[in-house]
Amino acid sequence: MDYLQDLVTLRGKISTVRKQGNSIGFVPTMGFLHEGHLSLIRAARAQNDFVVVSIFVNPLQFGKGEDYAEYPRDLENDSRLAAAAGCDLIFSPAVRDFYPPGYATHVEALGSITQGLCGASRPGHFRGVTTVLVKLFNLVTPDRTYFGQKDAQQCLVVKKMLDDLNFNIQFKIMPTVREADGLAMSSRNKFLTPRQRAAAPVLYQSLRQVEALFRGGERNGAVLKDKVHRLITAVPETEIDYIEIVGVDGLKPAEQVEKSCLVALAVKFGSTRLIDNIILEV
Ligand code: PAJ
Repeated sequence: MDYLQDLVTLRGKISTVRKQGNSIGFVPTMGFLHEGHLSLIRAARAQNDFVVVSIFVNPLQFGKGEDYAEYPRDLENDSRLAAAAGCDLIFSPAVRDFYPPGYATHVEALGSITQGLCGASRPGHFRGVTTVLVKLFNLVTPDRTYFGQKDAQQCLVVKKMLDDLNFNIQFKIMPTVREADGLAMSSRNKFLTPRQRAAAPVLYQSLRQVEALFRGGERNGAVLKDKVHRLITAVPETEIDYIEIVGVDGLKPAEQVEKSCLVALAVKFGSTRLIDNIILEV
């Protein structure tokens, strides 16, 4: 497996891979890899000749007071895990090379898909995500790219950007990988204290309860949200950022679940903010 930091060297390598007629699968990440990331790398391995993983903690997508400086990093372990999952090339640029002094260009998806949910509680976050990705896609020129359903809103926003900007890249969404107790895997789980970690499965449990209510015929968004709210607030050390039920296409709030909806939540355990979601299929 190759490990490259330099943008020019990356371009050279990609050009060689392309000249040899290989297809390219790409998994963008911020590193501190876990089984969720590895499931994307394995999917890319299965469907492409050459697999690129980027590891870049992107400062543009972190707001003031968020955990950019503390975000966990372990490039050595990441390289080992990525190689074992079938990665051919890790690209991990330095911030000063990726965004040199004077860097000025940003890409932003506007409208309801970026306004609600994480877009509301993290202003500028998705602008940072689309900006880093448009640059990465330009450098890596993948045929297919792989994202996790855990970040459901991110999936929608990136897909919209790819369509709007006429990228010729297949967008693949893979299921959320969970711990045995249901907690969605996340690089941020390592910040949880043992007590918080023991309490955190309540997120998925509450989503499952909503699903059960929905299957039992409940369609009222407020009733469904209230169920999640009560289950989570009953747990000490939790602070709800949002619990929303929105249509899967435009992410507009749904008062009644009459078409397929996303139930999405963000909850803080101390200073650690976790997200999760499920889809109610109609
Ligand atoms: P990061 O949080 O490192 O996630 C990288 C990819 O792994 C994303 O597509 C995310 O949805 C997926 N992922 C994370 N946890 C997962 C889980 N438990 N199951 C399945 N997939 C999971 O998302 C980002 O980085 C950044 O915003 C990025 C797209 C790299 C842009 O900087």
